[in-house]
Amino acid sequence: MLHAPGPELLKNLSGLQAVLSGVFPLKSRHRSDLPLAVRDLSRLLTSERGQRRVYWAQPRFVAAYLNYFLPWNLLRLAWLLPGLPLLPPVSPKQRQGIAPFAGKAGPGADLPATDRSGAVRVLDLGSGPLTLPLGLWLSRPELRTRKLHLLCTDSSPHPLNLGRALLENLAGRFYTTGPDKLFPWELRLERGTWEAALHGEKGRFELITAANLLNELSGRPRDAEERLEEKSSALFRAMHLALAPGGRIFLLEPGTRLGARLIVRMRSLALERGYLLESPCTHRMFCPLGHRTGEGGARRGPAGLEANSGRSREAFLQERGRGVRLNSAWCHFSFSAAGAWPELLDLSRDAGLEKERLHLACLLLRKPGTDSAPQPEKHSSRLRVRVVSDPLYLPAGRGIARYVCSALGLGLLRSSEDLPSGMLVEAVVPGWPDKAKKDPKSGAWEMLLNLTK
Ligand SMILES: C[S@@+](CC[C@H](N)C(=O)[O-])C[C@H]1O[C@@H](n2cnc3c(N)ncnc32)[C@H](O)[C@@H]1O
Repeated sequence: MLHAPGPELLKNLSGLQAVLSGVFPLKSRHRSDLPLAVRDLSRLLTSERGQRRVYWAQPRFVAAYLNYFLPWNLLRLAWLLPGLPLLPPVSPKQRQGIAPFAGKAGPGADLPATDRSGAVRVLDLGSGPLTLPLGLWLSRPELRTRKLHLLCTDSSPHPLNLGRALLENLAGRFYTTGPDKLFPWELRLERGTWEAALHGEKGRFELITAANLLNELSGRPRDAEERLEEKSSALFRAMHLALAPGGRIFLLEPGTRLGARLIVRMRSLALERGYLLESPCTHRMFCPLGHRTGEGGARRGPAGLEANSGRSREAFLQERGRGVRLNSAWCHFSFSAAGAWPELLDLSRDAGLEKERLHLACLLLRKPGTDSAPQPEKHSSRLRVRVVSDPLYLPAGRGIARYVCSALGLGLLRSSEDLPSGMLVEAVVPGWPDKAKKDPKSGAWEMLLNLTK
């Protein structure tokens, strides 16, 4: 799932610095204030959510976002995007000419997600300075020749326009426009909330993305919890309606407890509607890292899961009894911050926000289509598991292990110290089912790497 970016991608990413300086040269007062502005914005983004909306209206925060948050987000995306099947494979139609993007009420408004020209329709919600489109351009070079109708929306128009200037400038470095080399993406920017962007849309998009948006949905801190529950349900429902059959939803959040909790909540909503969990989940059972997320938790009973998966309440409860949830862990992935370029490292240090590791929480979902019904899950002693923790030292010299996520719940995978976070591997549960053992401390199933493939 996560791949260290190669030298070419790192070079292109660091080239963003030159694009930024060229497109948005900093005034001297903003340059000297930048580290402080980064620190202030960081506080704002991680604390009282009710105050957040104002940040795009303040030039010092715009400078901080563009020079610090955008580049780090792009580095995260550079690890993640190359390994994700976001779009369907190219069809012969997609090699033909570019068709104009049809507006909601315009001609072609009722076209399927892949329109008659073969272009794929993508909607990015809470797009900010087009971070996700920039990430696609940088990290997925094969998409640079693909026709995408990209609708980028945000409640604030300012960052959208900044992002367009960045993307066009960046793309200009790879593309010389001419009869044979047209910039193939049709970019449309729309100011508006996610509600407005999705309102009235039916089966229109093949991909809907939202990066670092969910944690901005709660509003006033006093009733933040209820608002998040309500908003995430409404958002999922609206995305579901706007998505074409077989289309995908990609969600990315910071690798914090809140980010992971929101992601697991969306996972639960997706399961209720029969979605396929393409990444990072290896199974459709309860989430072993979904503590207090609402999945089978305080506010949500197991009814949703029953409705979706055809499993009985008893089966669900049995599953819960069999697996464990780790209260101290949450679903996120971590990787090295190496690859950041000197200006970014200097700014991070000056802001007191040095990074050695980057973290993220994410989810790629696929709406059921004609060919993509979820397969029933089988339990056997061999199963696909995903590494979800850093290496941990087991007491009494029992060696090093990693927690892994599996259809049996949480596993403790021995001899796995060299595996990167997020890696998908096949494991075995020795002695399954009768003589399988659990780690006495965490309750996770003892597992070994399957080396017999
Ligand atoms: C943290 S920024 C993320 C920007 C970009 N997606 C990224 O990953 O860098 C969150 C963005 O969501 C936007 N936003 C907040 N609430 C929104 C809403 N209700 N509808 C649409 N956009 C919203 C903000 O204006 C902001 O640009």
